[in-house]
Amino acid sequence: MRILSIFGTRPEAIKMVPLVKRLEADGDVQSVVCVTGQHQTMLQQVLDLFGVVPNHNLAAMTANQTLNGLASRLFAGIDGVLETERPDRVLVHGDTLTSMAAALAAFHRRIPVGHVEAGLRTGNLYEPWPEEMNRRVVDVIGDLLFAPTASSQANLEAEALGGRVIVTGNTVIDALHLMCARLDGDAPMRARIDAQFPYLEPPDRGRPLLLVTGHRRESFGEGFANICAALAALAQTGKMQIVYPVHLNPNVRGPVLGTLGHLNDVYLTDPLDYPEFVRLMQRASIVLTDSGGVQEEAPALGKPVLVMRDVTERPEALAAGTVRLVGTDRNAIQQSVLQLVDDEAERRAFARRVNPYGDGHASERIVAALTGKPFEPFASRVLPGYRHPGRTAPPVED
Ligand code: UD1
Ligand code: UDP
Repeated sequence: MRILSIFGTRPEAIKMVPLVKRLEADGDVQSVVCVTGQHQTMLQQVLDLFGVVPNHNLAAMTANQTLNGLASRLFAGIDGVLETERPDRVLVHGDTLTSMAAALAAFHRRIPVGHVEAGLRTGNLYEPWPEEMNRRVVDVIGDLLFAPTASSQANLEAEALGGRVIVTGNTVIDALHLMCARLDGDAPMRARIDAQFPYLEPPDRGRPLLLVTGHRRESFGEGFANICAALAALAQTGKMQIVYPVHLNPNVRGPVLGTLGHLNDVYLTDPLDYPEFVRLMQRASIVLTDSGGVQEEAPALGKPVLVMRDVTERPEALAAGTVRLVGTDRNAIQQSVLQLVDDEAERRAFARRVNPYGDGHASERIVAALTGKPFEPFASRVLPGYRHPGRTAPPVED
């Protein structure tokens, strides 16, 4: 079976690499990889780390790209690869423009599509934008929907797509386990990474470390102005250290570097390599983010997570009580962070290690499902009182 995996951004790469490695190792599969290059530097960081050499790189990124400009380059480039490779199946991941364009391009050639990380929903097409629509398009097209959890499966069932679903866990936990095992087993590596952050106070004696990431398109403008104002005010309290690896999108870098560039206790970095970022998550006291992947990883590391969004398509950790939504309101962000910084007991209560998103074996299950080998689905329960986010139907039974 010739399987063409297509991905293009940092998070897709982190979440697809464990699967690609398993596909490469399976005797029944001929694995081909196409990266679209929707991201450049941030994608290459991940490929280099895991030693993945793509068969095709479409180098689609341009500076400050528009959605339609990027989409047109993606469709043209991906179609050429489909023509050359003639795969039996295409695999895409998640909710990016790359995933949507690759799935639709494969559909136009009647090639079956497997969707990794299917079924997440907020119910609002504009949050996250345009990702909620991208994910829905891919789910409608896909004939194999690899849902990470029972709740994402229930979302697909509510849209009459349940017959195509396999619950696998999220491959992000596979990647995180791989990385934590490397870090745990390699003290010199940990020391090398820690030496890159000489300014950080020791975790046991220092002030709390607030780790921040943010990049959502729907927060450009006013949202990021609020986020930056909140961080500036938090830094001025002198109660914490703030590390913020800044996404390369110019709509993020502009306000963040402009507002926070010269503040005491705020350390802005370029996007970090995955081992560095995982190490910082391990060292952090609180994670403040709008990222999808970080919302899944940080709870697995037992870190309290404040999410700068009004809704999330990842309700599992919210239900487990280790994630809170704080939106992009300046005061809400400030107060939520301060409350946790000031109250160590509250921080500890909030910081419980939970693993609702996976057990590290998602890639194995996906490869087994693709090649007809036996496997146990990821054991996951529908959230109590769960409702499909786009509907007001009665709760799905547990
Ligand atoms: C994209 C995805 C988003 C995902 C995010 C992960 C879409 C529509 N958006 O958003 O779902 O959560 O990636 O980070 O698919 N840039 C660089 N170098 C890089 C990467 C980006 O310079 O390595 C800059 C470029 O100017 C580029 C801009 O960032 O034009 C935006 O990149 P784009 O992929 O369109 O959007 P993201 O906000 O990164
Ligand atoms: N990440 C990283 N370096 C960083 C920031 C994040 O390696 O400086 C990783 C993080 O651990 C997670 C992924 O990138 O696995 C999340 O990517 P991002 O927030 O860009 O996208 P999203 O998950 O929101 O789509």
